[in-house]
Amino acid sequence: MIGTALRRFQLEDRRPRRDEILADALRGLASHPKRLPSKYFYDARGSQLFERICEQPEYYPTRTELAIMRDNVGAIAAALGPNVRVVEYGSGSGLKTRLLLRHLQSPVAYVPVEISRSALTESVTGLGHEFPYIEMLPVCADFTRPIKLPRAARAPRQTVVYFPGSTLGNFAPDDALRLLRQMRVEAGQGGGALNGGVLIGIDLVKDRAALEAAYNDAAGVTAEFTLNLLLRLNRELGADFDLGGFRHRARWHPLAGRIETHIVSTRAQRVRVGGQVFEFAEGEPMLVEYSCKYSLDGFARLAARAGLRVAGVWTDPARQFSVQWLACG
Ligand code: AVI
Repeated sequence: MIGTALRRFQLEDRRPRRDEILADALRGLASHPKRLPSKYFYDARGSQLFERICEQPEYYPTRTELAIMRDNVGAIAAALGPNVRVVEYGSGSGLKTRLLLRHLQSPVAYVPVEISRSALTESVTGLGHEFPYIEMLPVCADFTRPIKLPRAARAPRQTVVYFPGSTLGNFAPDDALRLLRQMRVEAGQGGGALNGGVLIGIDLVKDRAALEAAYNDAAGVTAEFTLNLLLRLNRELGADFDLGGFRHRARWHPLAGRIETHIVSTRAQRVRVGGQVFEFAEGEPMLVEYSCKYSLDGFARLAARAGLRVAGVWTDPARQFSVQWLACG
């Protein structure tokens, strides 16, 4: 057991170690063009900044997905059925999760898998108070790597992998496919009489102006979130990024169907990371995030390649965002 807040839970801690972060950073900085993985955005400050992004007027996905959940939670809970073991990849503020758990019939266990220990601790502590009858099995880990997740003490009818927030959009198509396959395996083998399924939030393609505004909010919170990645590398790897020499840039690429976020070097400079020196030219962009957007048909095709069948789709009236229930097989 660790910490006061977690006195009631056994938290499995499989956070990425310093050497993994260093290896990923060195590999990304040595590649052409340079890149850094977006999963490292989420240290304690990054997770707080992401919560603030979700409150920005331009960032429509969070409130739209929440409205879809509120409007349709009865039908969604009915589609998932009783006695489910819920595995959540990531655990944000827990608002959508809370709504789902409140409406599910006798859920057996909740297994959040989250890379940020602070976000995980906060959300599972709150959920544990509200749902004392649901077994809480938090795992602090990178969900993009296959991991054996804890089983519930009480046998579930099926396992449902919950992946809200359109976080799948942060993966390139091949990685998204691999992750959907991993979710299908987890849902199929997570224990229970039935093959389970995946409940997923997917952001939809829309006009450039709305998309670019969402990733370049006027208050500059997204820019702060993006650049916090460099602060993290400075603190955790002893790197010497000068934040005054870099800026945030997010653009919509219609052919690829994604927002690409770069950190751009505003001048020629050298940065030292893990004892190695990397040269940046003036204006050189470093890719830090994809936010892929899907059409309903395009996503159904991707899901089918992962062995998942779209069994339910809920959207907002303007069709900005979708919540989808994917059945195995
Ligand atoms: C977590 N993820 C779905 C967010 C997104 O919309 O791609 C992360 C984010 N990046 C910038 N703003 C929000």
